[in-house]
This record gives sequence, structure tokens and C-alpha cells, in this order.
Amino acid sequence: MKNPFQYGGIVSEPYFAGRDEEIKELTREMENNNRVFLVSQRRFGKTCLLHHLKNALEKDGVACTYIDLNAFPDLRSFAGAITSMTTKALESNTDRLLKIFSGFHMLRPKLSMDQDGNLSAGLELAVSEKEALAALVEGVAHAGTLAAKKKKRMVVIIDEFSDIEKYNGGTVEKVLRSEIQKQNHIGYIFSGSEQSVMLDMVQNSKRAFYKLGRLMKLGPIERKAYSRFILGWLKEGGYKASAQQIVRIFDIGEDVPYNIQRLCHTMWEAALETKTIDSELIERLPVIIARQDSAHYEMLWQTVTQAQKTLLIALANDPDAAPFSKDFQMQHGIGPSSSIKASLVSLLKKGIIFRTLEGHYRFVDRFMIFWIGGIRK
Ligand SMILES: Nc1ncnc2c1ncn2[C@@H]1O[C@H](COP(=O)(O)OP(=O)(O)OP(=O)(O)O)[C@@H](O)[C@H]1O
Ligand SMILES: [Mg+2]
Repeated sequence: MKNPFQYGGIVSEPYFAGRDEEIKELTREMENNNRVFLVSQRRFGKTCLLHHLKNALEKDGVACTYIDLNAFPDLRSFAGAITSMTTKALESNTDRLLKIFSGFHMLRPKLSMDQDGNLSAGLELAVSEKEALAALVEGVAHAGTLAAKKKKRMVVIIDEFSDIEKYNGGTVEKVLRSEIQKQNHIGYIFSGSEQSVMLDMVQNSKRAFYKLGRLMKLGPIERKAYSRFILGWLKEGGYKASAQQIVRIFDIGEDVPYNIQRLCHTMWEAALETKTIDSELIERLPVIIARQDSAHYEMLWQTVTQAQKTLLIALANDPDAAPFSKDFQMQHGIGPSSSIKASLVSLLKKGIIFRTLEGHYRFVDRFMIFWIGGIRK
């Protein structure tokens, strides 16, 4: 039997756990064509949840588009993608699609053939980066008009939305807001893990997206449902485990879905033959994972300076500490604050740590802490 605890990519049915309430809430918001800003720290399951929601909405006949801003380095490619994807979600007939595409002013259609010789239509911009903004306006406005004309409900999901700032943020945000506000057939979800950036977008009265929609903070997967999911699969695989052991896994993984999936995946493999899960195995899981990923950690370790290494070791031992406090600096023999600040900035940029809204600095990958523990022995 295949290991049911998947990690790393998009996890879908039947391996998708919990989230009933969140799906219900988002579905309801989308029924009202609202705009929702979905935020959480990294690896909490935003992307998985959004794909799951998209599938559910499509089953209900809603036209749905999912765009990950990471995949579009410049405004031109984003404008092309959003136009092309929203149109395709609303119109599947190739001839009609081509006709629509030919009608654009800022975009020109490009025909491409798939391996089986089927004609599929793609869109390419025939404009310079300067005119990309006008193309974006045309594309977003068109989605609204087409949805209204077809009397179809539509949902547009933009993932990694905090990345929007890379397209000369201010102007793009303003333009998007004014188009989105005119639309009453389309619901929008903007999702992102740069929590401070996302919060600033909606809560700062000087920003274009100020109060454009509601903020939804995605928490962990509810323990009861997640536990049922995990125990259900373990039982199906012939494993013996108790609810209490699963609680211990939630604690070790700090309820971050990626961590929990990874721990369960590793547990499944480690007990493949014996089918017995004991507490000693559970305690060992993070160390096994740290060992599995050691090549990756070693590479990261080589990219950081000695001062940064010292700081990482200190943070690994003392995750709730305030790095700028005298106590912390004395205890770990680091400082001054200016050099700690420089180290933190660099580690944040490298994606090794992140800053919580409460101002703590945490490892993006919790298992790295166990690896650091290992090298120090
Ligand atoms: N509902 C779920 N059921 C099972 N596994 C999940 C679920 N949600 C998240 N995961 C696990 O967590 C991992 C990370 O999830 P995902 O990529 O959706 O998080 P994210 O919040 O989009 O992260 P990032 O901010 O880094 O993009 C997945 O690969 C999967 O292993
Ligand atoms: Mg994601």
C-alpha cells in the first residue's frame, strides 16, 4: 500500500486531511462574490486548501482560476496568464475562445498544438512592459464582462499574492482594485505567507487594497479531524497506534501540517514491517527526518557566515528568546544588536528563518533544529 501521508507538493483526495470548516467558510464567501485575504505562516496548507476548494467549486459549476504569482516574474506574463486563464475557465470551445482572443487590443492570440495534434489556444502579449498594465486592466475587466454575459459565477484565486509588490506594486494594486470593485460576478481569494506584507495591504489606509476584503487567518488543521484522518489511514495499513501518540506527533510538529505529514510519512516507513508504533519511535522521528535532509542542511550551512551560524544555534536552543535582549546575547555570546540585525536580515532573505507576527524568529524548517542539535554533538 502506498504511503498515504504525502508532503512537499499539492495533496489531494483521498490524502487531503480536515479543513471542512475552512472549505465551508470560503465557499460561502465565494457564493457572495466576496474578496478574502487568506494568510498563514509558511507550510500551513494554503495552496493545498485552495486547490481543494477549486476542485469543489468546479464540481458545483463555478468557473475557477488559480494563479501562483511566483510563476510570473514580470507584469507582462502575469497579465497574459490571468487573461488567458480566466477566459478559458469561462469558455471551453476552441473556436469561440479564439474569437475572443482575437478581440483583445493589448494581447494577441498565439496558437499552439498539443502532442495529439489538438489545437489549443494560448495568449501572448504583443506589448512592451510599459503597456503591460493596460493589458492587465483589459484582461481583468474582460473576465468580469464575460462572466456576466455567460451568467456564470467565477472565482479567481491568486496565490503568493504578497509577491505583487515585485511588479512596481503601488500602481498595479490601484489598477487591480478599481477593476475588481466593479465586478459582481467574481469572488477573489488572495493568499500569501508574508503575513506582515499581507496585513499591511489590507490594514494600511494608504494602500490600494485597504479594506477591499476580509482577512482570514488560516490556522492549523483541527486536531480532532486530523487525528481521525491519521488513525484511519494507519488502521487501513494494519498499524496499531493510539490517539495519544498522535497528540504527541502534533506537539512535536507544532501543528504545522507539513511537519505532521512528514512525521507521519516517516513513521509509516519506519514501522512498515513491524506495524508497531511505540513512543520511542515517535520521539526519534524528527532526528530521522533531519538525517534524511542533511545534504540540504549542509548546503544551507555553507551559505551562512560564522556569526549567522552562532545565531542559528542560539535560536535553535532558545526559540522564544528575544534576539535583541541583553540576556540572550550574553547567554549565547553573540552581539552587538547591530550585527544580530544584519544576520537576521540575511537569514530571513535566505528563507531559513521567518518572523512571526509576535516578533519571534523561527526556523522555516523545524527539522533543521534537530540537525543543528546533531552536528553539535
Ligand atoms: N489538508 C491537508 N492535508 C494533508 N496534508 C496537508 C494539508 N495541508 C497541508 N498539507 C501538507 O503541508 C504541505 C505544505 O502545504 P502547502 O504547500 O499547501 O502550504 P502553504 O501554506 O501553501 O505553504 P507556502 O506558504 O510555503 O506556500 C503539503 O505539501 C502537505 O504535505
Ligand atoms: Mg503555498
